[in-house]
Amino acid sequence: MVVGSVLVTGGTGYIGSFTALALLQADYKVVIIDNLYNSSNEVLNRIELICGKKPEYHQCDITDEKALDEVFKAHPDIDSVIHFAALKAVGESAEVPLEYYRVNVYGTLCLLRSMQKHGVTNIVFSSSATVYGDATRFEGMIPIPEECPLGPTNPYGNTKFTVETMITDHINAERVKAKKEGKNGDVFNAALLRYFNPAGSHPSGVMGEDPQGVPYNLLPLLAQVAVGKREKLLVFGDDYDSKDGTAIRDYIHILDLSRGHTVALDHLRSNHPGVRAWNLGTGKGSTVYDMINAFSSAVGRDLPYEVVGRRPGDVLNLTANPTRANKELGWKAEHTLEGACTDLWRWTENNPQGYRQEPPKEFLEK
Ligand code: NAD
Ligand code: WQD
Repeated sequence: MVVGSVLVTGGTGYIGSFTALALLQADYKVVIIDNLYNSSNEVLNRIELICGKKPEYHQCDITDEKALDEVFKAHPDIDSVIHFAALKAVGESAEVPLEYYRVNVYGTLCLLRSMQKHGVTNIVFSSSATVYGDATRFEGMIPIPEECPLGPTNPYGNTKFTVETMITDHINAERVKAKKEGKNGDVFNAALLRYFNPAGSHPSGVMGEDPQGVPYNLLPLLAQVAVGKREKLLVFGDDYDSKDGTAIRDYIHILDLSRGHTVALDHLRSNHPGVRAWNLGTGKGSTVYDMINAFSSAVGRDLPYEVVGRRPGDVLNLTANPTRANKELGWKAEHTLEGACTDLWRWTENNPQGYRQEPPKEFLEK
């Protein structure tokens, strides 16, 4: 039995593909749109390999409102959207901010307008811990609760903050309108999910992160060091106020993160909470050295690194307080950091070309 139909924008990307898998496994019908700017549609076959079901797919740009209208027209059963499609490289966002506003902000505006036209009332939005900026500037805000004042420090973060504001304004207006018209249940709802640092891959070794250009994040870079594509990891600063001098982040397994989306969606569809932000993190901070050690253990040898200066815009500590999601969504991160590193290594070893190769043989033979 299908429990509902969901449009997943950016669904061939890293977090979107794992969420599409989790939705199919929870008996949702899944329709993906993506323009393949940073992904490959081979991931659709990998999803099918794992769960025996393939999401529907439309190649579509989020900034093309007419194309979005056509997708909603073709799937009148869609009642919810999980919105991942975006540009996400912090450094690049400072070089071409207008492009980030076009895709991330204008793209979301097109999506909200199209949803409104087609009576689609639930949206789960990929926000980011980056909206908090440097939470250490406030007393008592580490680990970071959702009430922490927002203050992004880069154009990418500003686009996420802007979209959170736009969705909130839109929903408040839609709910006032619905009340005037005497509608109760059928009102607009949004989950603003603020992710901390996604990590890991599918334990089968057939699905994982497959960045198209030069990776930006710590774990994909460490994975490249492990397979010899990169000589060493550059550690961005060892003079932070932490136990070993390196910066602290909250690394969350991709399976926990994707499950956070299915529970948030279930919550929106059954409780109609209006607009609400939830942190998705573990509540446990790890330093860069912790990560080098954990991934080196998974690989079975020490990985080379060199300490260089701090990366501009980096902050000391981004660790979530996930209590609100624990209590309100009944969601809690379950996987360990060690598990995330082992899974990442299995994916990296088995798929040196990412999705540009056949899936690993062992899996096909099962
Ligand atoms: P990703 O790049 O793997 O996925 C994004 C997908 O959006 C890609 O498949 C890309 O092709 C698609 N896309 C980009 N521009 C598009 C457009 N104009 N039209 C249609 N599709 C388009 O990134 P991800 O890591 O899976 O991130 C997913 C979402 O989560 C993004 O919104 C990102 O900002 C947010 N986020 C990511 C992280 C992280 O560290 N990965 C952390 C917090 C939030
Ligand atoms: C993690 C730690 C680096 C690379 C970014 C975005 C955030 C979110 C997740 C989307 C930091 C250190 C890294 C390297 C290093 N994305 N590092 N050497 O910066 O926490 O968050 O991705 O929303 O918005 O800002 O993640 O993986 O880049 O860095 O020492 O080569 O690893 O300084 O302390 P970050 P990251």
